[in-house]
Amino acid sequence: MSKNINIPFIGFGTWKLTGEVCVKAVSKALEAGYRHIDTADRYGNHKEVAKAVKDSGIKREEIFITTKVWYTELNYKNVLGSLERFLDELKTDYIDLLLVHWPNRQIPVEETFGAFCELKDTKKIRYYGVSNYTIHHIEDIISKGYRPFVNQVELHPSFNQKELYEYCKSKNILLTAYSPLGMGDELKNPIVVELSKKYNVTPAQVILNWIISRGIAAIPKSTNPVNIKDNLKSLEWKMEKIDVEKINAIEQKPRLLNPPWQEFDY
Ligand code: A2P
Repeated sequence: MSKNINIPFIGFGTWKLTGEVCVKAVSKALEAGYRHIDTADRYGNHKEVAKAVKDSGIKREEIFITTKVWYTELNYKNVLGSLERFLDELKTDYIDLLLVHWPNRQIPVEETFGAFCELKDTKKIRYYGVSNYTIHHIEDIISKGYRPFVNQVELHPSFNQKELYEYCKSKNILLTAYSPLGMGDELKNPIVVELSKKYNVTPAQVILNWIISRGIAAIPKSTNPVNIKDNLKSLEWKMEKIDVEKINAIEQKPRLLNPPWQEFDY
């Protein structure tokens, strides 16, 4: 858990999971012990996440649910309208964490975050945050008096977000890593493989443990029950500082996710 926001550090990512595959994977994750599920309006799987949560029999308040508003829906009216629909689809009275899915500088900051604050005041959301924001985007919202609790971004050993990490740390904003395994590519990195032998754990655990060791949350995805369980085990051991630094020093590569609507050059 973070001091700043009461969120389990390993969550279950649901991007690209739809239909029965999504219900099954989220059910397996909850059964394995995950208590943080990450979804988004854009993923089209709110109803499937709701079904898995309901079927699990776990109390709603024991599960941390994150969802996200799409970048075209960030004006005041659409945020409030979207949220009502999310509550209905997710069959819940509140969302734990509501994020802006992608920044959109066409829409004034006050529209989006004014609505987010209102939702927080009326307890329809517990926390709000952003996703895919650069330092510049975050400065814009902080300068208007808003305080994001989380910035969810692509982050893995060969894309370690060093500068954004330092900045968010200084502002007490929790980073959450999406695609923490580099969509699977990072599992073959020789340093990761070497450390997996040293600690007698899987390469996925090495990467996730490295992320947690830096005070960052992660939302790995998997449809394989063995991997789903394995990823949660990354919470059960501690990596030596020297090895955290070894992974920090891995050669950096371009980001994997770079859609046409991104504003990463801002
Ligand atoms: P699978 O669904 O077969 O487990 P990311 O979260 O970075 O996007 O990575 C997701 C990819 O990593 C998926 O292809 C997933 O495949 C794979 N994966 C997830 N967890 C593990 C694990 N513990 N070991 C190996 N591969 C994993």
